[in-house]
Amino acid sequence: MKILHGAVETRSEARAAKLQGKRVGFVATMGALHDGHISLVRAAKAKSDFVVASIFVNPTQFGPNEDLAKYPRTFEADRKKLEAEGVDLLFVPSVEEMYPPGAVTFVTAEGISDRLDGRSRPGHFRGVTTVVAKLFHIVEPDVALFGQKDAAQVAIIKRMARDLIFPLEIVVVPIVREPDGLAFSSRNAYLSPEERRQAAALSRALRAIESGYRGGERSSAKLIEAARQVLAGEPAVRVDYIEIVDRDTLDPVSQIGTGTLVAVAAFVGKTRLIDNIILSSTR
Ligand code: PAJ
Repeated sequence: MKILHGAVETRSEARAAKLQGKRVGFVATMGALHDGHISLVRAAKAKSDFVVASIFVNPTQFGPNEDLAKYPRTFEADRKKLEAEGVDLLFVPSVEEMYPPGAVTFVTAEGISDRLDGRSRPGHFRGVTTVVAKLFHIVEPDVALFGQKDAAQVAIIKRMARDLIFPLEIVVVPIVREPDGLAFSSRNAYLSPEERRQAAALSRALRAIESGYRGGERSSAKLIEAARQVLAGEPAVRVDYIEIVDRDTLDPVSQIGTGTLVAVAAFVGKTRLIDNIILSSTR
């Protein structure tokens, strides 16, 4: 596995692979890699012949009072995991490489970036679309893989890629969970053992909505109330939002149906976690 820090060198390597007729797959991460990230890498291996991964803790997607400084950084362990998965190229840029001093250009998916996490974390998705557009320009992938775990991010990146006419396919990979249902997240590392136990309530709350839906309930308000009751049972959990929306536009839906997105964000102690499910009537 080659490790590169420069954008120009990374683009040359990826282009060289393409010139050999290879299909380039790309997985963007902020590191602190877990099984969710690894499932993206495996999907990339299955869908392409040359896999590029990136590790970059992107400052522009963190708010002023968020966890940029303490975000877990575990480069050596990450490098080993990616090497073991057969990643071909690892791009690890510095902040100056991604944001040349004086950089004033940003990419915004207007409107949709203010929904869900974008409402709770103003400017977050502007940071995400900006860095992902830059990474796409550097790597020029044929296929880019993102996790369903970040459902709003998926909707916004798909829209950005379409609007900016990026010549690539976006593949969405299912959420990978711990045995008790908690979705893998780099931020789970912040949880105390007791918070970690209570955090499983997020996925239980989503399952309560799913079973209500399967039982015939179609009122968003009633389904959300059932989820709130589950979360109210855990004292360390404070709900940020529970929303039932269209998975592509992130607009509230008038008619709940198969394919509708149910998304939750909650603080567990001081740690903000997100999770979601796509409704379906059968398993
Ligand atoms: P990060 O949180 O490191 O996540 C990188 C990718 O892994 C994202 O596509 C995310 O959805 C996916 N992922 C995380 N947890 C997952 C899980 N439990 N199951 C499946 N996939 C999971 O998302 C980001 O970084 C950043 O916003 C980034 C896109 C890299 C831009 O900076």
